[in-house]
Amino acid sequence: MAIRIKDVDRAARSAWHRAADLGFLRPPSPENEEFWRPVFSSRGHRLKGAFDGERCVGTLRSFPMEITVPGGGAVEADAITGVTVLPTHRRQGLLTRMMTTELTEAVARDQALAILISVEWPIYGRFGFGPATFSAEFDVDCARGGLRAEVVDWIDRAAGTVEIVDAEEYAKAAPEVHARFRARQVGAVERPEWRWQMMTGQRPHPVHKREGAFYVLHRDSSGRPTGALTYRIEDKENWIGGVPQVRLKVDDLIVGAERARDDAVAAAALWQYVTSVDWIGTVSTGGRSPDDPFPLLLEDARAARRVGGEDMLWLRVLDVPAALEARTYQAEGEVIIRVEDPQGHCNGSYHLEGGLDGATCTRTTQEPDITLPVDSLGTLYLGGESARRLQAAGRLAEEWTGAAARIDTLFNEARLPWSPDGF
Ligand SMILES: CC(C)(COP(=O)(O)OP(=O)(O)OC[C@H]1O[C@@H](n2cnc3c(N)ncnc32)[C@H](O)[C@@H]1OP(=O)(O)O)[C@@H](O)C(=O)NCCC(=O)NCCS
Repeated sequence: MAIRIKDVDRAARSAWHRAADLGFLRPPSPENEEFWRPVFSSRGHRLKGAFDGERCVGTLRSFPMEITVPGGGAVEADAITGVTVLPTHRRQGLLTRMMTTELTEAVARDQALAILISVEWPIYGRFGFGPATFSAEFDVDCARGGLRAEVVDWIDRAAGTVEIVDAEEYAKAAPEVHARFRARQVGAVERPEWRWQMMTGQRPHPVHKREGAFYVLHRDSSGRPTGALTYRIEDKENWIGGVPQVRLKVDDLIVGAERARDDAVAAAALWQYVTSVDWIGTVSTGGRSPDDPFPLLLEDARAARRVGGEDMLWLRVLDVPAALEARTYQAEGEVIIRVEDPQGHCNGSYHLEGGLDGATCTRTTQEPDITLPVDSLGTLYLGGESARRLQAAGRLAEEWTGAAARIDTLFNEARLPWSPDGF
């Protein structure tokens, strides 16, 4: 029987959940279905399934989600997740059919971007997605000294406070910190209510448990919450020869002060806190921005050893003029970009004229300065990748020497984009 791709109504939701659990190599879990029930009923949520008769054998979920772009604007993207195909039906083109339908529908909804987090590198490039943010994980060896003395002075002079709070107080204060964080962090996405509930144990997620979490708030000298930290303790029994080797695992550390220039001191205070908890041998930072300045706060920056991190958010441009006009550029300038899109949504040449205050972007028949596949445009879009690097990797072609450098002058951001949240 032919396999059909269709929207999943309430009656078929259990079959969809079962397939998603199996696809992610988990035994089917009614608790998981229960957790997601209210979320899936919320505005804009869409479930797609591949159905072999009545059996769901492939899954895809999407919903609208804001992402911060260079300049601080928030663009509503089509966030795609829950992508699975059962092992019995893999490599028969089902993902291709679900994704093709999803992207076509996102274009019809006038969504300029689609975003996702890819579990494996080779899956989504063929659908026009490019890696757009990256993360870096560090293990900090606390025995090699804490923060530099002048950083400690700086924290003291700012006269903020660091307080361990309960989950309830954290849940009240942290969203305000996140709102300011997200407005300034290119690549950051919204944190929906369900994610806060999951993080604070209000609605524990049956798979991604956060048992034993500690909650900490940083407040500025006026008492306003400016930093939010959650962590857990691992290896509590790990004492060797009477010396503790306990690990502190940071789940989330974000800052959002009233003024951008006060973010750094709030972050320093939270790093000071985590690196000075008694018994802790190692602080495991979780995913940070690859250019997070925190190692430079340390007496010995090599005490922060990079232990992991990879591509995080993948981005697909669906509407070139809308996407390129939504962001700002680091210099005044213009460029003609030819985009090649295997799915056909963005094929063509575009004249971009941009600057610090915004941009105009229109279709053109003029000769291009550069030609690139749409996945490379996704990689460049948030300003975290260099066009010259993509050119060297054969992912972008210059029509004249120096065209990629001009793209970099316009597109690159002083700080890397970062997306701490999964979805
Ligand atoms: C990833 C997954 C959804 C792919 O589904 P699928 O229906 O097998 O994919 P398709 O048949 O449409 O594959 C399309 C193309 O992508 C390639 N491809 C798909 N998944 C791939 C992977 N994980 N690694 C490398 N290539 C992959 C296929 O080989 C095929 O290439 P071809 O057109 O050159 O033949 C499926 O393997 C799966 O459920 N994996 C486990 C869960 C998972 O990883 N989900 C993704 C979460 S982000």
